[in-house]
Amino acid sequence: MSVTIPYKKYISLSALVVLFGCAQPPPEPAPMPAAPELRKAIAVISPTEGNEVRGTVTFTQGTDGVEVSAVLMGLPAGEHGFHIHQYGDASATDGTSAGGHFNPMNKAHSGPESEERHVGDLGNITAGEAGATMHNKRDTHLSLNGPNSILGRGVIIHALADDLTSQPTGAAGARLGIGVIGVAKE
Ligand code: CU
Ligand code: ZN
Repeated sequence: MSVTIPYKKYISLSALVVLFGCAQPPPEPAPMPAAPELRKAIAVISPTEGNEVRGTVTFTQGTDGVEVSAVLMGLPAGEHGFHIHQYGDASATDGTSAGGHFNPMNKAHSGPESEERHVGDLGNITAGEAGATMHNKRDTHLSLNGPNSILGRGVIIHALADDLTSQPTGAAGARLGIGVIGVAKE
């Protein structure tokens, strides 16, 4: 009896230490290394069947949105609907494989200055005799990173002006040109 008591004491102390140890929260796992943020993307625009538009659209990630620049040739003079569509799929000769406007937040169609709009609603680009250009137009709805990233989506240039109102496309007509948004060299 007098021999077993210290032994029991020893065991129960050890059990307490083990229990106490197990009650501690597990150590935090080391954070996953963050994927490098994409800074620049580009879409090379090619004409759909029977059309002529060619050019580039570049997207530069800023702290509050993305700056959009475009240089397009071969467009009839006037305003042309200019959107990011859901799919970066240029396989259909009329561009319809790009699907509808990129709309991850399930909003209504509108213009680029509206709060409530498709992410892809870039409005219109205006062509003159020498083509159409857009210079560093900032768009706070776009991102090259995160769940609403436009990377891999399609850029479409339309035959008609986007009226910024008609659902769900702005009544911008046929698709004259298409490009896929890819990673650009910075
Ligand atoms: Cu469109
Ligand atoms: Zn839209």
